[in-house]
Amino acid sequence: PVDGPLTGRHVLVTAGPTWEPIDPVRYIANRSSGKQGFSIAAAAAAAGARVTLVAGPVHLPTPPGVDRVDVESALEMADAVKNALPADIAVMVAAVADWRTINTAKAKLKKRGSAPPALLLTENPDILATVAARPDRPPLLIGFAAETDNVLEYAKEKRKRKGADWIIANDVSGDVMGGDANAVHIVTGSDVVSLPEMPKEDVARILVERFADALAH
Ligand code: C5P
Repeated sequence: PVDGPLTGRHVLVTAGPTWEPIDPVRYIANRSSGKQGFSIAAAAAAAGARVTLVAGPVHLPTPPGVDRVDVESALEMADAVKNALPADIAVMVAAVADWRTINTAKAKLKKRGSAPPALLLTENPDILATVAARPDRPPLLIGFAAETDNVLEYAKEKRKRKGADWIIANDVSGDVMGGDANAVHIVTGSDVVSLPEMPKEDVARILVERFADALAH
């Protein structure tokens, strides 16, 4: 095990999108490469933590020293997160699909000769908010907020509504999605710290240092 500021700690990270099946060949998803979440898992492991990474479908290698649990849907992700608790820090980076179909087809839907299918949707559970309400809530619970406008305002509101300690907000109106750089604002209960744009690995390292500090104080 690596000796670092998070030695002896368990860090849980969610990353990537979730896929909500429409039929065996089609799905609904949010855009997410998983890069920021995987970088945070890597940085936490490098800081000495035992890391559980619950990953949606992405094309990324598992960072060294990280325990990875692959999932597909939001319900599977919620289950894997519950099974991974307790944790000292949970960082919910995943872009969980807000809705899933309730009329999921067992066979491939055919387009020829029939009207487009009507998708019946229901809301997925909010994994972050559910973890916040659990008796074994991690002492440091972090959410992410990808917004295209009113970034800080929505992030502050989200922090309170979901019961997270901090929200890491980023403006995705540019080309952050799938890119290698990110500019984030760290929204805590008392202040907002804005970091300049930098590689996602550097964002991850700075965040993990701050998580370790917060846990130690
Ligand atoms: O509401 P919104 O999706 O913008 O919230 C983003 C934050 O909430 C992220 O931390 C994300 O991982 C988490 N989330 C979740 N479960 C959901 C939706 C979002 O954990 N169903």
